[in-house]
Amino acid sequence: MIETCVFPVAGLGTRFLPATKAVPKEMLPVVDKPLVQYGVEEAVAAGMSKVCFINGRHKQAIENHFDRNVELENAIAGSGKEPLLEGVNRLMAECAINSIRQLQAKGLGHAIGCSRAVVGDKPFGVILPDDLCVNLDGPSVLAQMVALHERFGCSVVAIEEVPRDQVCKYGVIAGDEEEPGVFRVSNMVEKPAVEDAPSNLAIIGRYILTADIFDLIDATEPGKGGEIQITDALMKQAAEGRVIGYRFQGQRFDCGSMDGYVKATNFCYQNLYDR
Ligand code: UTP
Repeated sequence: MIETCVFPVAGLGTRFLPATKAVPKEMLPVVDKPLVQYGVEEAVAAGMSKVCFINGRHKQAIENHFDRNVELENAIAGSGKEPLLEGVNRLMAECAINSIRQLQAKGLGHAIGCSRAVVGDKPFGVILPDDLCVNLDGPSVLAQMVALHERFGCSVVAIEEVPRDQVCKYGVIAGDEEEPGVFRVSNMVEKPAVEDAPSNLAIIGRYILTADIFDLIDATEPGKGGEIQITDALMKQAAEGRVIGYRFQGQRFDCGSMDGYVKATNFCYQNLYDR
């Protein structure tokens, strides 16, 4: 069983300004729920009971969303609106919420490294909540990855085929397809130019990582964009055949971009809500 899910949420969300000037990107609603709540629901559905936010200053709204708001509760008591808070209240009861400050936004790898004190020495999940993943026909994407981790015992990254001209936005893998949708990763390149990309299989915001990643992150120098990249640390595991790339079942929406956010909103409204 994997206990902890890490949520790196310390980024500035600059692609979505001005919406994200005062509101964290992860608090943008898709229909009636903030993105981060979908992420925590996915972690709980994958059997995880400990959440660890890696957060930055000015984004306390994320922690506040998973705390009680007594004034609000008092105000709506007896009004019939109490059920609207049931979903988030249930999550608060089902998991322990931890929060760690990333003092400086030094990159995703660095943010994940900040979770070491909460995670300890066991494998753990990572969700980037601005990638909203939905699987209408079966287990959640993270739950699918937990099952693969149990089979292979190593790190697992979620991958998706993207149009070739989009590879520069992602970490891109190369590897052998050992069974349909399951790749043994041999190489990874962060945000490559089209001509340097080893494939069009892009890593999206779901990971299962083994705890030796922490020492590997500590030994990783700043890479692309001057940031400590998780792909550079993972590359060291991949060199030993210890990373699986998994083409997941379901759909992923990049809610850090306007196009993905609008698509996610329409999809969720059509498919997840009784109207
Ligand atoms: P992004 O590349 O999407 O950056 O980070 P961002 O700041 O959120 O958004 P843009 O590009 O400026 O619009 C990927 C994930 O890694 C987290 C982000 O919060 C996001 O979930 N992250 C990134 C950190 O937690 N710390 C960092 O130093 C960098």
